[in-house]
Amino acid sequence: CGIVGYIGNREAYPVIIKGLKRLEYRGYDSAGVVLYDGTGLKLAKTKGKVSDLEEKAAKEISTGGSIGIGHTRWATHGVPNDVNSHPHFSNSGNIAIVHNGIIENYEPLKKELKKRGYTFQSDTDTEVLANLIEDVKKKDNLKIGKAVQVALNQVVGAYAIAVFDKEKPDEIVCARLGSPLAIGVGKDEFFVASDASPFIEYTSNAIYLEDEEMAIISLGKPMKIRKIKDDSLVDPYIQELQINLEQIEKGGYDHFMLKEIYEQPNVITDTYRGRLHANEGLIKMAGIEDNLQKFLNAPRILIIACGTSWHAGLVAEYIFEEFARIPVEVEYASEFRYRNPIINENDVVIAISQSGETADTLAAIKLAKEHGAFVFGVCNVVGSSISRETHAGAYTHAGPEIGVASTKAFTTQITVLTLIALRLAQAKGTLSNSMFHRYLQELELIPEKVSEALETNDVAKAIADIYKDAPNCLYLGRGYNFPVALEGALKLKEISYIHAEGYPAAEMKHGPIALIDEQMPVVIIAPRQEHYDKIVSNIQEIKSRSGKIIAIVTRGDVQVKELADHVIEIPETTDALSPLITTIPLQLLSYHIAVMRGCNVDQPRNLAKSVTVE
Ligand code: G6P
Repeated sequence: CGIVGYIGNREAYPVIIKGLKRLEYRGYDSAGVVLYDGTGLKLAKTKGKVSDLEEKAAKEISTGGSIGIGHTRWATHGVPNDVNSHPHFSNSGNIAIVHNGIIENYEPLKKELKKRGYTFQSDTDTEVLANLIEDVKKKDNLKIGKAVQVALNQVVGAYAIAVFDKEKPDEIVCARLGSPLAIGVGKDEFFVASDASPFIEYTSNAIYLEDEEMAIISLGKPMKIRKIKDDSLVDPYIQELQINLEQIEKGGYDHFMLKEIYEQPNVITDTYRGRLHANEGLIKMAGIEDNLQKFLNAPRILIIACGTSWHAGLVAEYIFEEFARIPVEVEYASEFRYRNPIINENDVVIAISQSGETADTLAAIKLAKEHGAFVFGVCNVVGSSISRETHAGAYTHAGPEIGVASTKAFTTQITVLTLIALRLAQAKGTLSNSMFHRYLQELELIPEKVSEALETNDVAKAIADIYKDAPNCLYLGRGYNFPVALEGALKLKEISYIHAEGYPAAEMKHGPIALIDEQMPVVIIAPRQEHYDKIVSNIQEIKSRSGKIIAIVTRGDVQVKELADHVIEIPETTDALSPLITTIPLQLLSYHIAVMRGCNVDQPRNLAKSVTVE
């Protein structure tokens, strides 16, 4: 979910609406706003997108006032409908709250509040919190800031909240535990938001609340940040933001996803800038150099991540084992954290996350730290929770990724992980000098080759047109390109809602082959590299069962071309780096299929970009 709040001298409504649109990547099944114009609270909320909220607000409320809080939701408790949308009010109607996260003990709290006469309109845990705050406030005759603090100390779960109390109308109270919250500090005005994008055009000064901190933001008074548990004061640390407005706008593309696909040559260059020195045969990454011994002494590396980041982890497994000869295990963060995993003090854990906010990944990191492991983060969002929770790390520098389906985050994650693997291989002497240099040089050429791979756009579009109505699709790949098959299938299902499965090509005969008939498109990643002849045999197996073959091949390929129904030709590179190239046409293919099916590419149904709940 996304939160935006404003207090200052501007009209709050346009600031909040624009901000919510920027945060729609965090969830968009409902939206709402509450405004205060000096007389009363004006509430508008609805199922649907922020644009639906705008329509509704225009009809139902006057949108004046220079203080307000808004929300865009990704449902956890209660179906997405008008009533369950945020903001929620307490029973008196004085206290309004927006919340991101989950209150785990909301049922006992709700029961208790019901006994005390409170009633509830929605099924949400958030409304329980609103009434809990009110109850505490009334019972002990507290000011809103204190009441929020006392209430939060009774809550189990995760939250980022912004609270407004009509009885203290020059104040917004906000707090965080497990879900991000940033405060924009302007001149005589403040912004509260789930990330800095809603206030970037007004101020470049931001404070990121830490877990278990709350802030009381009042006009004309210095901001107070406290620890929720022990009430101790914390010095506000104001950070200068590094993103700019252009980075978060579409720049002439129809969708953010397409823009981000096309940004890949540039952002991959940004990722290795200053780190890769091919001519000198050097890789310089401070986070690795400072901790080199830890990596070299590690009996194994554990990689934890979710979604697309997990796929990048799988690619890294192949690369680390091949280059640096260190055993690697890749785990879904959600499985890892709940299965009493074996973690040793010498283990190195690499956590991969675009947003740096994924709740399961964050919890898995905490668990690994408790067991004494060294945790290294590979994140895109600077200053994110995961980047702060890890002992050291390397940013991917992909810039803001807005499209829910991850594209440039994936390729830049692979780039960072490849750099790390190469540096470790150099330190361990597990790659010959000539191979090491060859990889550095090849890596330097990747952005150019990604640009060439983007030229397959028209071919991908033409193939998309043929298969856009397919009910299923199979993706196959071997070795380094097996994870790419998984990622290709994930992209297609995420944005086009076509059921797709990724499989190691050789495993096909142990099950998925039963699905193959003349209706079944099979995307097969078959660049000319090791085991090429094996993949040719796999293609023949599909062909003999009348499956439709869409093959990703190396430019100039002859053998696969003869067998496949369609080919997409990509530039040649070394096996280990090929995922950076083979991924590109798969991204384009799913993009075009989704557009042709009329799907909302940037905001697919039911998904959220940043999943800050378990
Ligand atoms: C969500 C997103 C995916 C992403 C995953 C992990 O499910 O929709 O695109 O891969 O979370 O996110 P992270 O930010 O940790 O990489």
